[in-house]
Amino acid sequence: MAPFFYKDNMNIREINGFTIQQTAKDVWAIDEFGIDIMYLIIGTEKALLLDTGIGIGDIRAVVRELTEKPLIVVNSHHHYDHVGGNGHFDKVLAHKNALPVIREQNRAEYRKEFFLQQEARPEYSYKASLRAYMEETAEYELEGIEEGEIFDLGGRKLETVFTPGHTKDCICLLDRDDRFLFSGDTIVSTPTLMLDVFSDTMGVYLESLKKLQSLKEHYELIFPGHYIRPIGGRYIEDMIQCIQRLLEDPMSGEKDACGMTRSQVYFFQYGLASVLYTLDRAKR
Ligand SMILES: [Fe+2]
Repeated sequence: MAPFFYKDNMNIREINGFTIQQTAKDVWAIDEFGIDIMYLIIGTEKALLLDTGIGIGDIRAVVRELTEKPLIVVNSHHHYDHVGGNGHFDKVLAHKNALPVIREQNRAEYRKEFFLQQEARPEYSYKASLRAYMEETAEYELEGIEEGEIFDLGGRKLETVFTPGHTKDCICLLDRDDRFLFSGDTIVSTPTLMLDVFSDTMGVYLESLKKLQSLKEHYELIFPGHYIRPIGGRYIEDMIQCIQRLLEDPMSGEKDACGMTRSQVYFFQYGLASVLYTLDRAKR
């Protein structure tokens, strides 16, 4: 394995253009060119990669720079910016509800359309050519997981918490011993998308948030699927308030725009939490 060198005093280094940050002992946040964050969590026996990005470059080679241990690959939900690199691995796990959608998306045309959308995002760093990877798809084995499934990595256990809302197949991974919650897109520091095209209702999302709140004694830091910094539990408290207010009055938000749906989109913020939503999601 390559000797380890930090790029600077902030625990940041680059591998094949990806920005890698050690966020805790044996936990690495892998920033895919400003588009999404994957997490490599390493135990004494095995390692787990949460999400595979949109699939720029070779995420498997990046992981192999960091660990040679047997690897478990898990998707936090079906969105393509979390599953696009799946083809670099032989087998990937995701919530059982996500499997048909992930399979359906694994087509060259779908990927091409998605990559072109991503290229237009302001967060994209332009350090990699999206076009070079635009038509790269591969077959791999997909297996379903459910609430409560535990990944024992040796000295570190990750527990699957089913948290539908943003999509109907979202999961979080909870590391009770180290007190970390890996939240995918269920909790992010930017607006959570609750759109007619892929989300469950806000009523369902609220139940997921309350489940995470009931587990709050077991985590201190939340590692989201976008933006390379951990966030605190207050995001969940504020999101509960945010969603409760929208369930009481769906018109609380201001009109906004989002290219992912043809419906009118609204934006609402409460404290640290914010939502970009379509009106039909604001129901129990
Ligand atoms: Fe998402």
